[in-house]
Amino acid sequence: MNYDDLADLYDRQYDLYRDDLHFYAGLSERAGGPVLEVGAGTGRVTTFLARRGADVTGLDPSARMLERARARAQEQGLTVEFVQGDAQSVRLERRFALILAPFNALMHLYTPAEQLAALENLRAHLAPGGAFAFDLYVPRYGEMNTLRHEGETFHGPDGSRTDVFLVQRRDRVRQHVTTEYHVDTTAPDGLLRRRHFTLTQRYYTRYEVEWLLRCAGFEAPRVTGSFQGGPLEEASEVMVFQTRARAQ
Ligand SMILES: C[S@@+](CC[C@H](N)C(=O)[O-])C[C@H]1O[C@@H](n2cnc3c(N)ncnc32)[C@H](O)[C@@H]1O
Repeated sequence: MNYDDLADLYDRQYDLYRDDLHFYAGLSERAGGPVLEVGAGTGRVTTFLARRGADVTGLDPSARMLERARARAQEQGLTVEFVQGDAQSVRLERRFALILAPFNALMHLYTPAEQLAALENLRAHLAPGGAFAFDLYVPRYGEMNTLRHEGETFHGPDGSRTDVFLVQRRDRVRQHVTTEYHVDTTAPDGLLRRRHFTLTQRYYTRYEVEWLLRCAGFEAPRVTGSFQGGPLEEASEVMVFQTRARAQ
């Protein structure tokens, strides 16, 4: 999954998403050592941690997302190392006290082989006693195969307005959800420009993730249904996992 085309839209959609920031900042403060953020994207979480003094490295395969992340760090006067690479194959010299994969980053590992390759590689990048934490959304969707508008309207400084419409399709066999975004920007003179982007995510169940972690050499995780530590229950929107590498 290449986020290059999505980078501009991504920031417009999620720049103000803050639900997870204090949770990851708390972990990073307690870790007391270098932090690796996997799927750092446009640096939303990375820069938040760096502003609080974390020694954080952001990893992402998308050049465009990283371009925005570097610009964000520079605007804030922060020194952050961003590395272009894939969680499955990257080889970094450093070992980390904490590895994070916030906001569904692991949903771009589509097969068990990809998931295990990434998890084993990340485990190998943990310092002894290091922790690994990530969140995934609970798979629950609106009506499939139907064009929807979920209230995402952005107003540009030039007087334009951008409306995000989406159609989702589910492949239950492969556990994929594909979202097709139709992004309509209307200029002040009424002229409409439509762009089209496709995003495919691999959704997970809670116990599937627990088994994957075990297979990749992690301890049984702590699983919560919120960033505040509440239990995972029917109405939860996120699954938050915290674990450590199992002693060999
Ligand atoms: C939903 S975004 C999350 C971005 C950021 N963590 C945040 O919270 O705003 C998912 C990110 O995962 C990245 N990604 C996709 N496949 C990846 C892989 N194999 N290894 C590392 N990152 C990956 C994408 O490029 C994208 O930037």
